[in-house]
Amino acid sequence: MELIRRVKEMQETCLRLKKERKTIGLVPTMGYLHAGHLSLVQRARKENDIVVMSNFVNPLQFGPKEDFATYPRDLERDNKLAAEVGVDYVFAPTAEEMYPGNYSTYVEVTGEVTGKMCGISRPGHFKGVTTVVCKLFLITQADRAYFGQKDAQQAIVIRRMVQDLNIPLQIITCPIIREEDGLALSSRNTYLSPEEREQALALPRALRVGQQLIQEGERDPKRVKEKILQVLESSPGIRVDYVEVVNGDTLSELIELKGHVLLAAAVYVGKTRLIDNIDLEVEPCTAVC
Ligand code: PAF
Repeated sequence: MELIRRVKEMQETCLRLKKERKTIGLVPTMGYLHAGHLSLVQRARKENDIVVMSNFVNPLQFGPKEDFATYPRDLERDNKLAAEVGVDYVFAPTAEEMYPGNYSTYVEVTGEVTGKMCGISRPGHFKGVTTVVCKLFLITQADRAYFGQKDAQQAIVIRRMVQDLNIPLQIITCPIIREEDGLALSSRNTYLSPEEREQALALPRALRVGQQLIQEGERDPKRVKEKILQVLESSPGIRVDYVEVVNGDTLSELIELKGHVLLAAAVYVGKTRLIDNIDLEVEPCTAVC
């Protein structure tokens, strides 16, 4: 595995690989790798000749009061894990390398997909994400890029960017990887104290209650949302940021639950903000509902 720190070198390497007709799979990360990231690499490994992983804590996607400074970082450990799981190139630029002093270009997806959920709680976040991801796509010339379903809204926003800008690349969303007790893997889980770690289980539990309600025949998104909120609000240590029950492809509001449905929530446990979601295919109600 090769570590590349300069944009020019990464771009020239990828252009050479493309000339050799190699397919490139890109796994964008902010490092502090866990099994969720590694599952993306495994999928990329199966589907491409070359796997590039980016490891870059992108300052643009953090708000002024957010955790950019404290975000966990361990490039040495990450590189070992990346090599073990079959990454060919790790691209780990500095912030100055990605955004030199005269940097002035941003990519922003507007409208419904960014105007709700994390887009409201974290103003400017998705603009930072789409800007860096667009740069990574251009630098690596990837054929496919792999993202986790845990950041469901992020994946939808990036798909929209790719569609709108006619970027010739396929976006692949991979399933959420969870701890045995249900907590979705996240680099931010390391912030949780043992007590908070226990309290955080209310998040996947509440979403499962919502899912169960749908599986039992409920088709009113408002009632599912209320139930999820009820579970979260009655759980100690949890402060709700948002709960949404929306179309899983577009994040549009639903009058009746059918098709691809996303149950998504963000909560604070202490100072740590966690997100999670469940997406499911819902049959239209056939019985008298
Ligand atoms: O999901 C992440 O880790 C980041 O948002 C990403 C896609 C690597 C962009 O910085």
